[in-house]
Amino acid sequence: MKTAIAILDFGSQYTQLIARRVRELQVYCEIYPWHTQPEAIHALNPAGFILSGGPSSVYEENAPTLPLFILRSGLPVLGICYGMQLLAEALGGMVSASPQKEFGLAEIEVTSSNPLLKTGRQTVWMSHGDQVKEMPPGFYRLASSASTFIAAMADPARGIYGVQFHPEVHHTPRGIEILRAFVNDICGLQPEWTPENIIASSVERIRRQVGGANVLSAVSGGVDSTVATTLVHRAIGNQLRTVFVNTGLLRLNEAEQVEKVLKQHLGIPLVTVDASAGYFDALRGITDPEEKRRVIGAKFIEVFEQEAARAGNPPFLVQGTIYPDVVESSSAQGSQAQRIKSHHNVGGLPESMKFELIEPLRYLFKDEVRRVGEALGIPSQLVWRQPFPGPGLAVRCLGEVTPERVRRLQLADAIFREELETANLLNQKPAPGCALLAQAFVVLLPVRSVGVMGDRRTYQETAALRAVTSEDFMTADWAHLPYDLLGRTANRIVNEVPGINRVVYDITSKPPSTIEWE
Ligand code: XMP
Repeated sequence: MKTAIAILDFGSQYTQLIARRVRELQVYCEIYPWHTQPEAIHALNPAGFILSGGPSSVYEENAPTLPLFILRSGLPVLGICYGMQLLAEALGGMVSASPQKEFGLAEIEVTSSNPLLKTGRQTVWMSHGDQVKEMPPGFYRLASSASTFIAAMADPARGIYGVQFHPEVHHTPRGIEILRAFVNDICGLQPEWTPENIIASSVERIRRQVGGANVLSAVSGGVDSTVATTLVHRAIGNQLRTVFVNTGLLRLNEAEQVEKVLKQHLGIPLVTVDASAGYFDALRGITDPEEKRRVIGAKFIEVFEQEAARAGNPPFLVQGTIYPDVVESSSAQGSQAQRIKSHHNVGGLPESMKFELIEPLRYLFKDEVRRVGEALGIPSQLVWRQPFPGPGLAVRCLGEVTPERVRRLQLADAIFREELETANLLNQKPAPGCALLAQAFVVLLPVRSVGVMGDRRTYQETAALRAVTSEDFMTADWAHLPYDLLGRTANRIVNEVPGINRVVYDITSKPPSTIEWE
């Protein structure tokens, strides 16, 4: 039975968004680089294809081309932007450069009734330099805008559609209706990709993969490792050994919370390793951010190797890899991106450690992971927890990482989070269309300044508050938090945390800053 959509990526910055929108419609889809071998795509048994946009021009030398097996399949196709131009060119139409690039909001008028677009006017997002000048035989025009005569075209008899604009972005308010018409009505797919079905199929797949063998999992307290571990536990019960390494670099009381949720709430037996003393030893005297990451990564491997040996070196390891990591590592942009921070090095295991990986979240987006987590009964405060960097508070404690300074940071950070929680701004499931407070935390600066408390001079460290809104963590805006919340937080930190006499608020966005300070 056909249950999925195949999305071909021609290099658009919005390809992942197309996939997220299709998944929002509860239909499974996968993204493939445009030059993927047809057999790999046939294995998905798709009911239709979506062709993404892309930065090229169809007439450029070496520009990505339309794989012809797509047309031969006889299945419905929706080409978006460059995808529509590829269809036009391959089927005998003509594409040429627009007199000027069109970028931004535009009004289209849908003149003829058709299965994809409702008649009337609607606002859409355009971003293109070329446009279709002549449609291929058999096509007719569905819509036009002031500067794009053929803003959408179709040959409904063959199920082939093209839109010059981007239905996948939020700036096209009715874009989801367009994708729904394609996925549900034209491809005939039902909304079956629900958390319950995802859980049932993962459990079955894990059982098949593992058989009677033992499996090791390391949880960090983050959403991904917790959901992955819970799924594997549901599949194989006590064949799973779960290890939690307390690095001493977690937030205040977090280690205890992780233990409580996993053991008591989810009934997953947990081996806790208190490795904090070893981590602080390894970090002594180190102030360089990348060196901190390297030392923490090496320490993790050391502790992990000991625990794997203690568990009898099971052949399988659970990893919480999620779909954006998979897509980025296979896309051209992913491998060429300049390294700003070595985010993904922490927790990476050496080649010599031979495990077969179990990656139950490999095809899920973050919001799907969270919904699966909720359906598995993981408490919502953990499911909606903000991302926390692998190296933990070490990269929020600028300068040397000592137990005393980490304690200072933990106390200040707990106050900030408490105030945000009271204001209902922390770990919230976002209201539709509302910018989520993506991350909020305290950074301890090794900068001492003079203050006065109770008539006495103080000379102490500085806490910086950082709070950002972000959809994807690639870009972020500083959060415009209420002044009274900031004031109360600063007041409490200075009064309640020994060693801090000054609080500042970080009002830079990313870029040019990054979210974390190190
Ligand atoms: P930046 O600071 O680069 O952060 O704007 C983007 C996102 O990545 C997280 N981050 C890390 N995550 N290991 C991680 O697992 C790291 O070393 C690391 N550094 C930053 C950061 O919290 C934000 O969500």
